[in-house]
Amino acid sequence: MKTMQLGKSGVTVPVIGVGCMRMADKTTDEARALIETALDLGLNFFDHADLYAGGDSERRFADAIGMNDDVREKIILQSKCGICPGKTMFDFSREHIMESVEGSLRRLRTDYLDFLLLHRPDTLWEPEEVAETFQLLKQSGKVRHFGVSNQNPMQMRHLQKYMGDEPICCDQLQFSVPASGMVKSGLNVNMDVDDGIDRDGGVLEYTRCEGITIQAWSPFQYGFFKGVYLDNPAFEGLNEKLAEIGARYGMSKTSTVVAWVLRHPAKMQVLTGTMNPERLKECAAGTEVTLTRQEWYEIFTSDGNILP
Ligand SMILES: NC(=O)c1ccc[n+]([C@@H]2O[C@H](COP(=O)([O-])OP(=O)(O)OC[C@H]3O[C@@H](n4cnc5c(N)ncnc54)[C@H](OP(=O)(O)O)[C@@H]3O)[C@@H](O)[C@H]2O)c1
Repeated sequence: MKTMQLGKSGVTVPVIGVGCMRMADKTTDEARALIETALDLGLNFFDHADLYAGGDSERRFADAIGMNDDVREKIILQSKCGICPGKTMFDFSREHIMESVEGSLRRLRTDYLDFLLLHRPDTLWEPEEVAETFQLLKQSGKVRHFGVSNQNPMQMRHLQKYMGDEPICCDQLQFSVPASGMVKSGLNVNMDVDDGIDRDGGVLEYTRCEGITIQAWSPFQYGFFKGVYLDNPAFEGLNEKLAEIGARYGMSKTSTVVAWVLRHPAKMQVLTGTMNPERLKECAAGTEVTLTRQEWYEIFTSDGNILP
């Protein structure tokens, strides 16, 4: 499996991270089959959140992998905190972050997280307090590296200001052909077209400048969990193009999506969400192929994205 550096963490990770948001929908045996396939493929990076299925996804993962010290040292675990449905919804206070990490460690049956991310912006946050909390977590050995999710450049700069030498390693953002706003706005700067609307403050360019890895979540979904665009008649042009270009390399459309995300020189890490071992193998196959510049743009425009 191809690997990459996750931001400035110094940690080498596979170019695909296995998202575990949907793991609690599966039995322990089904989850084990997915995890075993992942590990066979060299995919040893797993993304969690305290929130997923109320913590059950983390529990199911620990049960399925049979967590113990030997297992733990072979895998890279990431979890996220800061969303708390039923309470204030977003909470980046020290109390909440600490409580969340303790919960994830307990459910994952581990002493440490490799990466901890702030899940979704909390406008009532105090970045200084968050940075101090990260420092405490690092000193205690409970978290090794930090990142954010769904943040814009100024939010990251605000937090980094207080983090000193401790880098923000990654920003998790939705990215796929139908969710490619961060590419579209950069292509249509100052144009009087909707594709030129900048919704994220130039996050693609900022993360590249700062050496922050974008983790591309929901690579196969359109909208905000509206469904899968592959084999979806509403995305006919995109499906035809993925099939056409994939066929040149003997790849399925699923593999071709992964190859498309990885072809971007931002060097994103793809976060898959499948719980189907066969589909995970297809995703892995997409890491083997480097699309041409022409092919990348053809796939991008096949969904109606315009180029000025
Ligand atoms: N930071 C954030 O705010 C945020 C938000 C969302 C997700 N995430 C992370 O990103 C990971 C990936 O997100 P995601 O699960 O939405 O990713 P995804 O890989 O785009 O979607 C996975 C889902 O789509 C289905 N699927 C994929 N290809 C399909 C196809 N060709 N036909 C039918 N169904 C297909 C999968 O079903 P099968 O299981 O049957 O394959 C699964 O239910 C999550 O696990 C989580 O770790 C982060």
